[in-house]
Amino acid sequence: MNFFPQDIIIKKRDGGALTKDEIEFFARGVSDGKSFADYQATALLMAIFWRGMTPQETAWLTDAMMRSGDVIDLSDLPGAKVDKHSTGGVGDKVSLILAPLAVACGLKVPMMSGRGLGHTGGTLDKLEAIPGFKVNLSVPEFRTILQKVGCAMIGQTPQVVPADKKLYSLRDVTGTVECIPLICASIMSKKLAEGIDSLVLDVKFGRGAFMKKKDDALTLARAMVAVGKAGGKPVRALLTAMNQPLGRAAGHTTEVIESIECLKGRGPADLMEVTYALTGQMLLLGGKAKNEADALRQMKAAITNGSALKVFREMCVAQGGDPKVIDDYSILPTAKKLLPVKAPADAKCFVSEVDALKCGHAIMALGGGRAAVTDKVDHAVGIADLIKIGAPVAPGTLLCTLHVNDDAKGARAEALIREAVKFSATAPQQEPLIQDLIQ
Ligand code: URA
Repeated sequence: MNFFPQDIIIKKRDGGALTKDEIEFFARGVSDGKSFADYQATALLMAIFWRGMTPQETAWLTDAMMRSGDVIDLSDLPGAKVDKHSTGGVGDKVSLILAPLAVACGLKVPMMSGRGLGHTGGTLDKLEAIPGFKVNLSVPEFRTILQKVGCAMIGQTPQVVPADKKLYSLRDVTGTVECIPLICASIMSKKLAEGIDSLVLDVKFGRGAFMKKKDDALTLARAMVAVGKAGGKPVRALLTAMNQPLGRAAGHTTEVIESIECLKGRGPADLMEVTYALTGQMLLLGGKAKNEADALRQMKAAITNGSALKVFREMCVAQGGDPKVIDDYSILPTAKKLLPVKAPADAKCFVSEVDALKCGHAIMALGGGRAAVTDKVDHAVGIADLIKIGAPVAPGTLLCTLHVNDDAKGARAEALIREAVKFSATAPQQEPLIQDLIQ
C-alpha cells in the first residue's frame, strides 16, 4: 500500500496511532531509500520520540524492520536455539563465557553481536583480540559452525535488518536514540532475524548502562518481552545493576583473559553470578533444565569438567582464532606498560563506589574505545585487577592495573580511575546484582 510520508508524520506528530500498513510502508521506504527520504524518516523518528508508540505499533515496527532483510532460518538444525542479548555496560564479557557454557549444557547459541560504542564495550571487538578470530562470516559459514560447534559469534551481515542500519544511523545524529519503542524495535528486529527459538535479555541499568534509571530499564524490558511474545518467541529479561564494572577487567585482551579464567573455574563472583543467572534462564527456555537449581548444577559441572572451555576452544578454531591463547595469554595483544593505580594516603576503610561510566571513559582515554563507528580500537590497552565495591582499603592498596601504550593516555586514564573510586569509613550497602525477572 502507498502513502504520503508527510501524512504518516503528521498523524504521529499529532499523537495518533499508526496502522500496520503505514508502519510497513515506513520500514520499506527507509530500507529501499526511495519512498521515505532521510529528512522525512528523521521527522517521523522525532515524532515517535515525543509521542511514543503503543505496544501494538512497536510489535508491528519490529516485525516490519525484521522483514526488511533476510530472516535466517535455522529450523533444519536440531536442538533448541537460544540467544542472549545485553543492552551493554562496562566489563560485560558475559557472552564469551555464556555461549560455550550453554552449548556444553545442550543448547545451540546463534549469536550476532555488536561492536563497542562510546563507553560500552562490544563482543566482536573483544573476540578480535584473539589473533586470527574472524567475526565477519557469511550466513552459510555461521550455520556450518553452529552445526559443528554449537555456537558461533558473528557480526550482523548487511542483509540482516537493513532498516535498522539506516534508522540507527539517523537516530544517532538526530537525538532520537533514547526512545524505548525505537530501542525495542531495533534490538528485537535483529534478534528475531537470527533464527532463534527463544531469547534471554540482560537489561542493564545504572551509571555504566544505557538506561540510567531502573524504571526505564523495566519499561524497556517489558516492551521487549511483549514484542518477543507477539513474534511468537518466548523471551525473558533479567534486570541487572551496572553501577560498577562487571568483573575485574575491562578492555579487550584483559576481558578475554578474564573470560577464559571464568571458563577455567577462576572467575570473579559477580561476573559468574550474572553469567549463571542468564545462562540458567536460557537452559530453562530451551528445555534443558528442570528448574534453576538443576540449571546451576549443570553449569557448575560444565565449568568443573572443562566441557565449557572445550567448546570455547572449538569455537576459536572454527572461527580462525588461535586456540593457544587459552594456555598462553601472552599471544594476545599486549600493552607496552603496566601502570598500577594505588589508593591515596587519605583512603580509608572501604571502597564505596567504582563508577562504571568513569571506568568506561578511562578505557576510551587509553585508546580502547570508539567514539565513532569507524574508529579503530587498541585491543591491548585496558583495566585489570579492578577493586570492587565493599573491598577493604588502606593507603597504597592496588585499585587497578592499567595496560597502557602511551604515557599521556595512561595519565588521563589514571585520573579517571581516581575519580571513579570512592572510599567510606563504614562498609557500604551492596546492591543486589540481579534485581528482576520479566517474563
Ligand atoms: N542497541 C541497539 O541495537 N539499538 C538501539 O536502539 C539501542 C541499543
